Amino acid sequence: TIARTAIIAGNWKMNFGPKQAASFTSNILPTLGKITRANPHVLSIICPPAISLAAVHEVMEAMPAPHIELGAQNMYFEEKGAFTGEISPEMVKELCTTVILGHSERRGYFHENDELVNKKVLAALNHGLRPIICVGENLAQYESGKTHSFIETQIQHSLANLDATQAKQIVIAYEPIWAIGTGKAATAEGANQVIHFIRHTYTAMYGQTAADTIHILYGGSVTGANIADFIAYADIDGALIGGSSIKSDFAEILQKTA
Ligand code: G3P
Repeated sequence: TIARTAIIAGNWKMNFGPKQAASFTSNILPTLGKITRANPHVLSIICPPAISLAAVHEVMEAMPAPHIELGAQNMYFEEKGAFTGEISPEMVKELCTTVILGHSERRGYFHENDELVNKKVLAALNHGLRPIICVGENLAQYESGKTHSFIETQIQHSLANLDATQAKQIVIAYEPIWAIGTGKAATAEGANQVIHFIRHTYTAMYGQTAADTIHILYGGSVTGANIADFIAYADIDGALIGGSSIKSDFAEILQKTA
């Protein structure tokens, strides 16, 4: 097996406008930087709301820290023009390295389907952005044993049509919907099993080397208290953190991963 860098990404969701985002970042960044400086094998990506990206970017410029990057939570796939309320890949690229796409909250509340997510993934890659593509089953699917078949479809459709280079440049986040914001994380063993299945599905699409290169993260009620259980598994390359990413807990999670 290939040794992959660990990724700890923080999805702030709809929390912290520019002022709060800047002050939170100023407070936590020295601690995060100390961890990443000592541990070159961990990458941390902070994903504030779009309106706060510039403010966080400014703080990060003033307090340089290695292996800490900025990401957006969503974007549109078109280049520019009459798409009220949307932001383009080029705009995201001015400030960010990364963009979260197809989060279950976008799929659920804003009706994003695999076809739209796929267009966004291709647009991100074409602009040199690292997409973190989210997949995950809901409670009914989980309880009726449909997890694998549902996720296989999400992976096949959301990640269609990548070229050989692009196929190595993505990050997948497995986020079972029933574990998001509920305090009921998947068991590490269960998450590892699905993540292993995702890598297997991806191997069938793009081959072993691509599947061994990409990062697959777990997301859903990850805290400083349970992160170590997840990253102990070789197939779990890190985590996408929601609630704990806007607290000092985020530094503890990063520390325990490093
Ligand atoms: O994208 C991360 C997320 O959906 C997990 O949220 O609050 O359960 O850590 P949370």
